[in-house]
Amino acid sequence: MSNSEQTLSIIKPDAVERNLESNIVDIFTKSGLQIVNKKKIHISKDEASSFYEVHQSKPFFNDLCNYLSSGPIIVMILKGENAVKKNREIMGSTDPKMAAPGTIRKLYGISIDKNSVHGSDSLDNAKKEIKFFFE
Ligand code: CMP
Repeated sequence: MSNSEQTLSIIKPDAVERNLESNIVDIFTKSGLQIVNKKKIHISKDEASSFYEVHQSKPFFNDLCNYLSSGPIIVMILKGENAVKKNREIMGSTDPKMAAPGTIRKLYGISIDKNSVHGSDSLDNAKKEIKFFFE
């Protein structure tokens, strides 16, 4: 049975800065995910805080928001079969040191903060995150 979904992906400042956009887009498209919308933006710290609201009680929240607003990012809507789960598999573990070979975070991640990409963790959050950037 077909289960086409949409999910949100962000190429974070560390990867935009190193011109990794086309490498990362290639990884998604070669894995069967389609890019249905994409834009390069530079968000404020307030916008980053709002986006990462679920993490506001975490000790790393302030650094996380400073980081996401530190430079341009690329936000994308990915579409395909089981896109939420597939995107998370392609990204690899949050901490690049723990990420499986061939995943984006293993290939390009620098640290748990500068881990090159963000991806929605559930279909529900994917809908909210897409709305946040594209509506
Ligand atoms: P991301 O998928 O964008 O979601 C929240 C981010 O917080 C995560 O990727 C990491 O880059 C960052 N982060 C920093 N420290 C931690 C931590 N200890 N555990 C989880 N995420 C962390």
